[in-house]
Amino acid sequence: MDLYEYQAKELFAAHGVPVLPGTVVETPEQARAATEQLGQTVVVKAQVKTGGRGKAGGVKLAETPDEAQAKAEAILGLDIKGHVVRRVLVTPASDIAEEYYFSFLLDRANRTFLAMASAEGGVEIELLAVERPEALAKIPIDPLAGVDLAKAREIATAAKFPDAVAEQAAEVIVKLWETFVTEDATLVEVNPLVRDPQDTVIALDGKVTLDDNASFRHPQHAELVDQSAEDPLEARAKAKDLNYVKLDGQVGIIGNGAGLVMSTLDVVAYAGEEFGGMKPANFLDIGGGASAEVMANGLEIILSDPDVRSVFVNVFGGITACDAVAGGIVRAFELLGEVGKPIVVRLDGNNAGEGRRILDAAGLPGLSQVDTMDAAARRAVELAAAAAVA
Ligand SMILES: Nc1ncnc2c1ncn2[C@@H]1O[C@H](COP(=O)(O)OP(=O)(O)OP(=O)(O)O)[C@@H](O)[C@H]1O
Ligand SMILES: [Mg+2]
Repeated sequence: MDLYEYQAKELFAAHGVPVLPGTVVETPEQARAATEQLGQTVVVKAQVKTGGRGKAGGVKLAETPDEAQAKAEAILGLDIKGHVVRRVLVTPASDIAEEYYFSFLLDRANRTFLAMASAEGGVEIELLAVERPEALAKIPIDPLAGVDLAKAREIATAAKFPDAVAEQAAEVIVKLWETFVTEDATLVEVNPLVRDPQDTVIALDGKVTLDDNASFRHPQHAELVDQSAEDPLEARAKAKDLNYVKLDGQVGIIGNGAGLVMSTLDVVAYAGEEFGGMKPANFLDIGGGASAEVMANGLEIILSDPDVRSVFVNVFGGITACDAVAGGIVRAFELLGEVGKPIVVRLDGNNAGEGRRILDAAGLPGLSQVDTMDAAARRAVELAAAAAVA
């Protein structure tokens, strides 16, 4: 889960990383009131989960409450790379002597953590990495040893942070590492980390990605989820522990195993080209032990998607044999009652014959079986296209 800047900075503050105070508001009037309260020049900042807000006109200085109201008016509703601004952060304007870059991230390619730091921050870091790679220090972090003050000093030196702030920067780096580890983050980024005219180091921006696989260790992280921005079907699927991702097509997909579901999406999209561009409506992996209840939950989510016109259930029997899956489908129909949309089932692998017999015998309304994946995908797409015309 990616956090908003204001959430990232709240986490920073909780771990002792120096940040400026701020108020998150939803209307221009509230931005004016927040500025009156601060009683100084402020910066009004769009809160969206994407980079390059400044360039897109989403970060603006305001010297008076009037001006803050006008700037908030201009920023709220702005579309920044597909993210519409619903809230802005009103925060004191900082005098900036220098801007630096800092991040900790999970370096998957090298199976370790990485610190990236540069005394040349503020600019687009992707650009710096390409044009002047020598200016961006990349220091691998041994996950067992972590980052103590000595390691942080090594990073600060490699980044060429000036002597006057190097020690302070090292202390901030240690606290950012604490944030990274304690909160189970996969990314902690500060761009810019600034030096003010009094040589104080402050995290002026913050970007944090939390590892969802560790969420069970952090019940308090649930509060960070932005319910209003979540897809309602994905939220319902998550509540039922389903591996579901909403897509923008018309053919609902259920499969067992992420690899099989991924290839099912490809096969359906390919078959759909012939039928006016029908596409998969979702990714849903019901996993190895597909019980009747899981099948019913999955079918229920998919059938309640108004975009779905047909459903393709693609199962390759492995540890869970096809007869068990077929039993699950029959039970799912009982649990759901009326299904109302055509369902194409392809069973193959372990006990496929028995599974097909169970489904044939059950005579479920709207359900048809096709034995190969390509032909079944084609049938599902055809039914979706026909439903579109009807
Ligand atoms: N509180 C502040 N006081 C003064 N200047 C600020 C303040 N916050 C941001 N700025 C200036 O605006 C620039 C952009 O701000 P920020 O880094 O928060 O957004 P961004 O980098 O454009 O967006 P993103 O980090 O999402 O790509 C900063 O580099 C800094 O120069
Ligand atoms: Mg930034």
